[in-house]
Amino acid sequence: MTQEIEIKVEGGVQVIRFLRADKKNALTGPMYDAMSEALDASEKNDAIAAHVFIGSGGVYTAGNDINDFVRRARDGSQDVAPSQMFIQRLPKVGKPMIAAVDGLAVGIGVTMLLHCDLVYASPAASFRTPFVDLGLIQEAGSSVLGPARLGYARAFELFVLGEAWTAARAAEAGLVNAVVPAGELEAKAMAAAKRLAAKPRAALLAARRLLKADPAAISATIANEVAVYRELMRSPEAKEAFTAFLEKRPPDFAKARRGG
Ligand code: COA
Repeated sequence: MTQEIEIKVEGGVQVIRFLRADKKNALTGPMYDAMSEALDASEKNDAIAAHVFIGSGGVYTAGNDINDFVRRARDGSQDVAPSQMFIQRLPKVGKPMIAAVDGLAVGIGVTMLLHCDLVYASPAASFRTPFVDLGLIQEAGSSVLGPARLGYARAFELFVLGEAWTAARAAEAGLVNAVVPAGELEAKAMAAAKRLAAKPRAALLAARRLLKADPAAISATIANEVAVYRELMRSPEAKEAFTAFLEKRPPDFAKARRGG
């Protein structure tokens, strides 16, 4: 497994830790593959009752690795991207997922939280989904999960306006359950996961399944998002957004639209 992620089981809890702090824990193909495999394998493993996602180095994750994105677009790869495999798995996960967010959560770092059952954040947490600014749209079923969890007005503010939310705003909006000091964050998430692990398993999983949106409906939303996303990925504006990031300069969308 890649060194950029650590996956361990502790007291009935599968802990998935992003270990790529020098790149703001941006998620690469091998990191997505490792998570998908771990989530998949855990479904039939009674020793695992819940999952905890956690970052490192004061960052949750800066989202998809943009270099991976650009490479795949350039190579014209037709395979399903590891990020897509992970996203498609999220609504099918049968066991509770808990996230502990310290520092930046960007893109999939935010949309994956809509699949989590409990989200804890440090006061330094910041939530940002710059999809439209990258010439793209929201993903991971968040087109439906976002308005359902946050209300339309807040979902629009987050996903389209691309507003950066503080931990307090995210808690007020219902994205985050509680804001806890950074030093207590991991313990808080682990304590909640272990409480869940100690509960009657069949009742725990049934209660969760009934509270959640229908996985088939979310999968259909994801498929719609992917179709739109793929089209937009080829647009001059998306190309300009990614090139500008890699060249460390502001994007010029008007020029890109003129074919410049
Ligand atoms: N993909 C690839 N590399 C990334 C990355 C990403 N999503 N986010 C950060 N990095 C890399 C930077 O390129 C930089 O690498 P370098 O040291 O080799 O130059 C390193 O991580 C540190 O990032 P830097 O931008 O210097 O840190 P910062 O604190 O100034 O800014 C962010 C942090 C997250 C605000 C900024 O990096 C950013 O906007 N990242 C892109 C986020 C994004 O759009 N994600 C995709 C959503 S779909």
